[in-house]
Amino acid sequence: MINPTAENRKLNKKNTRTNTFTSSLFSKLFRSSSAISTKYAEQPALKNVFKNDFYIGAALSLNQISDNDPDAIALVEKHFNSITPENILKWEEVHPEPNRYNFEAADRYVALGEKHKMHIIGHTLVWFHQTPDWVFQDESGKPLGREALLERMKDHIFTVMGRYKGRIHGWDVVNEAIMSDGQFRKNKWLEIIGEDYVLKAFEYARQVDPDAQLYYNEYDFEHKSKCEGVIWLIKNLQSRGVRIDGVGIQGHWFLDYPHIEDIESYILALSNLGVKLMITELDVGVLPYYPIDSKIVDISSFDLETQKKFNPYPDVLPDSVQKDLADRYAELFSLFYKHRDKFSRVTFWAVHDGQSWRSYLPIKGRTDYPMLFDRQCRPKPAFDAVVKIVQSKKFKTQQ
Ligand code: GLA
Repeated sequence: MINPTAENRKLNKKNTRTNTFTSSLFSKLFRSSSAISTKYAEQPALKNVFKNDFYIGAALSLNQISDNDPDAIALVEKHFNSITPENILKWEEVHPEPNRYNFEAADRYVALGEKHKMHIIGHTLVWFHQTPDWVFQDESGKPLGREALLERMKDHIFTVMGRYKGRIHGWDVVNEAIMSDGQFRKNKWLEIIGEDYVLKAFEYARQVDPDAQLYYNEYDFEHKSKCEGVIWLIKNLQSRGVRIDGVGIQGHWFLDYPHIEDIESYILALSNLGVKLMITELDVGVLPYYPIDSKIVDISSFDLETQKKFNPYPDVLPDSVQKDLADRYAELFSLFYKHRDKFSRVTFWAVHDGQSWRSYLPIKGRTDYPMLFDRQCRPKPAFDAVVKIVQSKKFKTQQ
């Protein structure tokens, strides 16, 4: 999914920090993680519900990796057996300057996963976004040539993947290379290296760790041309001897979009590639749609009526919408369960509502409710709906 511009990202980061600081302060003052986990001790663990089907993952924020969100970590320990870092392995975070890598948070992230014997994911090596401008320039600020940029990409992949060889089990090697019209996304990688930048990224990654799972990650497969473009890309790589282990379907969805039939039809189309599928960034926004690639705006910059329209539930989610969310999650997990032979993992793009990017991108300051756990880390009706639908299906197949 397209992300904000560099300038706007700073705003978002600030916003995230404020949110996480407030929520962590709240959590320290009013609750303890043991209180939360004791209260919900009787809830089944999601990872056990799907034990024989696929990994259940969650994306972790820097705040969580840094031990500042104990309630979230208690949920992670109980419910999830796979983790993905939200930001800390993106180029701008892990390799902010030409000769400086910053592995502190990533080391903690991998140690956390190992402590709990989790399936650990690296996200992401080559992307057009959250990659600093210097990557594409020489020392005098002029655009790099093809060979120099390939060298830089190789150095990055060798250094980052190499550090965690055998410890990070699967990598999103390339993120979002195809546009809605099925063509290559116009970005600096394409402009300087050419279309084989994707192939090169996979070749370098395979050289570093022959045993790692290597994935291509993408969004909006419901656009037929895009889905066809990705299928063409993967087939092309396969025909040139490049092994790809999986395709990640991001899954930033809404209550009524995309239609479940459309999701099923692209699951079937992608599974013909003979690779594993994963839902890599699942969340279900309940707020009205606003184009994700719009310029970031603050909700307070709208007039009152527009604020109400785009941020209809600033304080609490009405029961009726809570139910719609539960129904949507039940429908989605029914589908994933039906196609469990094709999936290796379903990862949520946050642990709880308070962490989700959907409240600050592309409109800053909204209150969305996209996850299975609320801002106090309590399971929502959507959590129960997921457990119920899958348990009932399992029960039926045992009859
Ligand atoms: C994309 C990226 C993720 C995250 C989300 C939400 O989907 O793959 O890393 O940035 O956008 O912003």
